[in-house]
Order: sequence, then structure tokens, then C-alpha cells
Amino acid sequence: MKAPAKRVSLTQHLVEEQRLNNNVPAELRLLIEVVARACKSISHAVGKGALGEVLGSTETENVQGEVQKKLDVLSNEILLEANEWGGHLAAMASEEMESFHPIPNRYPQGEYLLLFDPLDGSSNIDVNVSIGTIFSVLKAPDGMVTVTEQDFLQPGVNQVAAGYAVYGPQTVLVLTTGNGVNCFTLDREMGSWVRTQQHIQIPAETKEYAINASNARHWFAPVRRYINELNEGKTGPRGKDFNMRWIASMVADVHRILNRGGIFMYPADARDPGKPGKLRLMYEANPMAFIVEQAGGAATNGMQRIMEIQPETLHQRVAVFLGSKNEVERVTGYHQNA
Ligand code: AHG
Ligand code: MN
Ligand code: MN
Repeated sequence: MKAPAKRVSLTQHLVEEQRLNNNVPAELRLLIEVVARACKSISHAVGKGALGEVLGSTETENVQGEVQKKLDVLSNEILLEANEWGGHLAAMASEEMESFHPIPNRYPQGEYLLLFDPLDGSSNIDVNVSIGTIFSVLKAPDGMVTVTEQDFLQPGVNQVAAGYAVYGPQTVLVLTTGNGVNCFTLDREMGSWVRTQQHIQIPAETKEYAINASNARHWFAPVRRYINELNEGKTGPRGKDFNMRWIASMVADVHRILNRGGIFMYPADARDPGKPGKLRLMYEANPMAFIVEQAGGAATNGMQRIMEIQPETLHQRVAVFLGSKNEVERVTGYHQNA
């Protein structure tokens, strides 16, 4: 009889990474394990749906003026509570909180800063479409005594880890600690994360794109030109037909792109000149950019690499073009030469 394939758990993977690449010290491993545990709880709540009374909205709005769903608030609480007491963090910041959350004095303080979008794809919660969690890990600046917002405002190239969970038909966790991208699937019976994909690479060539086309009338010229060319298909300048997918959960769109290629776009547009795109730099674009680059793809705001942008505020927005390298480079070129 053939012996069952050896399963590699998240913990074992992280221990091996540290041994091989010296990039996951024990504190960071603990941090990632705690975030993964919180994602397990969120996955459980998501899975209960109406039976867990987790669907629907609260009465409150977050700092971006968006009505909070019950699951936005619950997921935020789960992540805060899980990460408060372990001694691995100095502070946390979240889409759902206007200011950052310092670790309370009663707990030891660590050297990392954690940022998260607790529940990505909120509009899909109540209709049972894939949603997720996105997180980014930075190191607190050397010599920091009391955390300030300024300590978080580091460019994405400083990230020491980033990941996302997708709560879909399967619950998966995709992670980078700067040495490639790996995927873990939640074994629901055992309650453990099992490595199911290693060294994920995004194909450089693709025939798929993702954009909310209902905003087409607001797009600027470079995006218009790029999308028109894709839509002209075989007989147009690109010489091939492209297909479109838009899930409205960035986690799910990025996960598809990681697995079979594609380009994801949320451009800035003419609606509000003061609003450079919809997605948030620190806890949506940066972690996804880190993952995508680690998988051989590219991520820009149309003009420059997302991870090189110097953040000015915790909740700032940014235009996003990410995924298969050749496509991201092409649309970025259209912006740079406009
Ligand atoms: P969130 O639910 O965290 O606010 O993020 C939703 C984001 C992103 O996941 C998705 O790609 C995009 O908003 C969808 O926007 P549209 O509703 O404009 O399509
Ligand atoms: Mn989001
Ligand atoms: Mn969210």
C-alpha cells in the first residue's frame, strides 16, 4: 500500500523557512500562527452565515464612510483579541479603526506592527460569494518607545510578511515571508493549515482581466486605451481574445490570478480627483503587491511600483494594477507615456 503523502503544517513550513532562509524568527512565526488562527475563527463565523446571525449590517460607519457589516466588525474583533496578548506586536491598524490600536500596557510589547483588512469583499458577505482577510507585517522602527501613526508609514518594500485568507468553497491562506509564495488549505476536521501549493508563480502571459467595467465612463485615457485594446480581441492590436472576471472581492480575484494569471485593476478615475483609486495602500495594495511580486508578477499604481510609495496616512487610497507581469508593464507604460 502506498504511504499517504506527508503533510506539512503551517508551523512546520515556517520552522523550515527560518532554517533555510533565516527570515522567520520565532516572534514572527508566532505572529503568523496567531493571524492564521484568527482567520480560522473568521472562516468558522463566515461558514455559519444566517445560522450564526453574522449576516447584515451594523448601525455604524467606518473611517472611510462605509456602512460596516456585522462580519467586518466581528472579524476585526477576532483579529484584535487574538493578537493582543502574545507579546509579538507593538500595535495594530485596521480598515475598520480610524486610529491604530496600541498593545495595552497589561501585555508585553513586541517589535512588529500588524495591519489588516479584516473582511475583504464585504458586499459579497450576504450573497455567499468568496470573501477574505488581508494582512501586512512591518517591523517597528528601531528605538521606538511609544508607537505613533508615523511608525506605520513605511513603504511596502519594508514588509517582512504578508498574506491573505480566502473564505470560499475551501478556506485557504496564502503567505509570503519574502521567499516566494505558498498556499495552505484549512483542514476543517483537524483544524489545521496544511501546505498545498509551494513557490506559486503567476504566468507572465494571460488572456484574462479584472476591472469593474461599470466605471468605464469615468476612466482616464490610459485605462480606456488599454481596456479597448483588450476588448478588440483577435482582430485588434493584441491579436487575441481576452476574457473578463470581476468578483468584487480582491482576495478572490487575486487568488485566481495567482493560480492562472491575469491582471487586476482598480484605477483612479475622474469621479473625485482627491481620491486616487478605491483600495487602501497599507492593508490592501501593499500586502497584495508583496505577494504578487514574490510570485513573479508586478504591481503598480500606473506610474510606479506600489511597494515604493511612501505612505502619508494610514488609510490612504491608491490606484492598483497587479498580476501578470507583461500586462501590468503594458498598462503602466500607457500611463507613463500619456
Ligand atoms: P472591502 O470589502 O474591504 O471594503 O473591499 C472591497 C474592495 C475589493 O475587495 C474589491 O475588489 C472592490 O472593493 C470592489 O469594488 P466595487 O464594489 O467598486 O466593484
Ligand atoms: Mn478590502
Ligand atoms: Mn474590508
